[in-house]
Amino acid sequence: MFEIFKERPQDVPAIESLLDTAFGANRHARASYALRENIEAIPELCLTARRDSVILGTIRYWPLLIPGARSGLLLGPIAVDPAHGKLGIGGKLIEQSLSDASILGHDAVVAIGNADYLSRFGFCPAGQFGLTFTTPLAPGRLHALELFPGALAGAGGRVAKAL
Ligand SMILES: CC(C)(COP(=O)(O)OP(=O)(O)OC[C@H]1O[C@@H](n2cnc3c(N)ncnc32)[C@H](O)[C@@H]1OP(=O)(O)O)[C@@H](O)C(=O)NCCC(=O)NCCS
Repeated sequence: MFEIFKERPQDVPAIESLLDTAFGANRHARASYALRENIEAIPELCLTARRDSVILGTIRYWPLLIPGARSGLLLGPIAVDPAHGKLGIGGKLIEQSLSDASILGHDAVVAIGNADYLSRFGFCPAGQFGLTFTTPLAPGRLHALELFPGALAGAGGRVAKAL
């Protein structure tokens, strides 16, 4: 079994190692990282999955300017230790953090990733809301989620780094 906790400062080395494994050591060159540059993650939404003291999964969120949304979020990165995949850890991290985000009053979330996985949590292709990314992405990689119905009704345009 595993439990979900808020990320703590002492978790950072294990989290960075999980992220290197999941996305490669050159992950900082990805376009999504440019949206996070010099901006703090949102601590209330940065969670880990732990068994005993071992970190098995991580999810982090950053503020994101989503045109038309009042308080947008960038989901990710999310990663689970491959040796503990398919145990529901990723799903629990996403569900818990989205619920927390909603309670905190955020209204929309953008995520980059696999449609089959993200659609499980209600994400739709971001194009349905007229949203595009800062740089061209592989087709079907940009997704968006309204945290309440109609949150993205007036949305449209390119997501951007939060101010
Ligand atoms: C994506 C990830 C976080 C899922 O974590 P997890 O704990 O294994 O996920 P869960 O146990 O909640 O869900 C497992 C299910 O999701 C599916 N799944 C996992 N990763 C997937 C992906 N990238 N695309 C499509 N389906 C995926 C599994 O096949 C499994 O399907 P099943 O329920 O039909 O057996 C993990 O695989 C990971 O760290 N991947 C590398 C990093 C990454 O790609 N992050 C971005 C994801 S959008």
